[in-house]
Amino acid sequence: MHRRQLLKQSALAVAAFSFSRDLFAREAERFIPAAGFADFIKLSSNENPHGPSPLARKAMIDAVSTSNRYPWDVTTKLREKIANQYHLTKDHVIIGAGSSELLGVVSLMAALQGGKAVAPDPTFRLWMGAARKTGLPIDLVPLTSGKITDLQRMKEKMDSNTKMVYICNPNNPTGTVLPAADLENFIKQVPPFCTILLDEAYTEFSDEPSMAMMIDTHPNLVVAKTFSKIYGMAGARVGYALAHPQTIKLLNDLQPWSNAGASAVALAGAIASMEDKQFLDFCKKENQRARAVFYKALDKAGIRYIPSNTSFVYFDSSTYGKDFRQVLEAQQIVGARTFEEGTKWLRLSVGTFGEMEKVAAVIG
Ligand SMILES: Cc1ncc(COP(=O)(O)O)c(C=O)c1O
Repeated sequence: MHRRQLLKQSALAVAAFSFSRDLFAREAERFIPAAGFADFIKLSSNENPHGPSPLARKAMIDAVSTSNRYPWDVTTKLREKIANQYHLTKDHVIIGAGSSELLGVVSLMAALQGGKAVAPDPTFRLWMGAARKTGLPIDLVPLTSGKITDLQRMKEKMDSNTKMVYICNPNNPTGTVLPAADLENFIKQVPPFCTILLDEAYTEFSDEPSMAMMIDTHPNLVVAKTFSKIYGMAGARVGYALAHPQTIKLLNDLQPWSNAGASAVALAGAIASMEDKQFLDFCKKENQRARAVFYKALDKAGIRYIPSNTSFVYFDSSTYGKDFRQVLEAQQIVGARTFEEGTKWLRLSVGTFGEMEKVAAVIG
């Protein structure tokens, strides 16, 4: 390469760097949509359209320069911070590369005991393929007619061979939430040899509390949580689970390296995002505001939907008259998905207020 060319490229690189620094400074001042897509609106995976929070973005940038070291101290700091939030100790907390890693580890623990699992249908299925392959058959229990997890039928389905029961609360893809009292009652009735894997990926969007307060008295309860949803860090890959220290030890033993799945950058972002209460409030409110726009459009189009406690909406497009998904896709709005074969129920993630206004205009 000629010297002149080299100099020109270096100058461009420096300009790009200071441009991105300026851009970051401006972004950090306000909560604006994070990674936007120039050509389409993506509403498929219940990602937070606003995150990561400004504090998390800054912390992650700062953590890049310490990424030559294993982040043990940062992992401990995050475990302590999470423990404080729930009035627990760090020994009640396991860290993973997203909560999906931990759903996998819990189902592996159940598979190693022989026996089977019970789960509602439809629900979040990502962990099920690997669970079945490791020898954990799964009995699926249909939701009630109101698309709510049917605790009574799940209880009936369980027997002495059931080593794990999975509950997603609020449930993905339906967005329904179980009242805390019902769930508490259910947890108390599950025998101690059966692990209750409670997936609380979306609890922060709902007004129901976490069941974390039950883990000290119920060593068979594992509560899985994530920084991917309200915290807006799906791409950073960090999640955690809360359980009795004895259970956490068993789970740590099944990780390739205990608590080592999340990077230094992701951990720093997670810690900072927990401090950004203003951002969390903003995300919850914006999600409600954007969801309301979508509800209004669905009402106008005569489409039945399930009121959601999450960052997505489940609705029955069979009365729409046109192919709902195609209508959206023709306008570069992607992500409406089916979870119940043979029906026209679809799930659509809630984007920004502006994105949902666009969806509303398109479905007319
Ligand atoms: C219910 C539920 N649990 C867990 C996850 C996994 O989240 P992550 O692995 O990004 O923490 C998701 C992601 O969509 C989810 O919807």
